[in-house]
Amino acid sequence: MKLVTKMVLLASLSAVTSLSQAACSFDVEVGDYLRFSATEMTVEKSCDSVTVNLKHTGKLPAKIMGHNWVLTKDTDVKSVASKGMGAGLAANYVPQDDNRVIAYSSVIGGGGTTSVTFSTKDLSVGGKYIYFCSFPGHSYGMRGTLNVKA
Ligand code: CU
Repeated sequence: MKLVTKMVLLASLSAVTSLSQAACSFDVEVGDYLRFSATEMTVEKSCDSVTVNLKHTGKLPAKIMGHNWVLTKDTDVKSVASKGMGAGLAANYVPQDDNRVIAYSSVIGGGGTTSVTFSTKDLSVGGKYIYFCSFPGHSYGMRGTLNVKA
């Protein structure tokens, strides 16, 4: 049973990988644990905008095991995550009117889905970007790299 689960997980991971070839839309899953189903995505600058669809397959509520998807430059992750904690759940644990936040989604709990669409105009080819979950305590382990290619 465990092996089957693992194989399904691998299959969904490779689906994410192949989706990243299209590079304008991504499906990412989260659950009652601290990781994203994809730890890397590659965006093409030729996309006018990028959409990330986030799905929480767990059961725990947002106030206990909420997750979101926040994008910043790699150098801004720590500070934005720290400031986001103080913003609270109602603000999706994201500092408001902070231009270091390139994009962010709502915080969702088990069974929830959300999506965020953002322009690629502020992304530089070859720039270093990190997406992470800004729920308190999650950003250290729950993150991935976003690459931008021409
Ligand atoms: Cu989280």
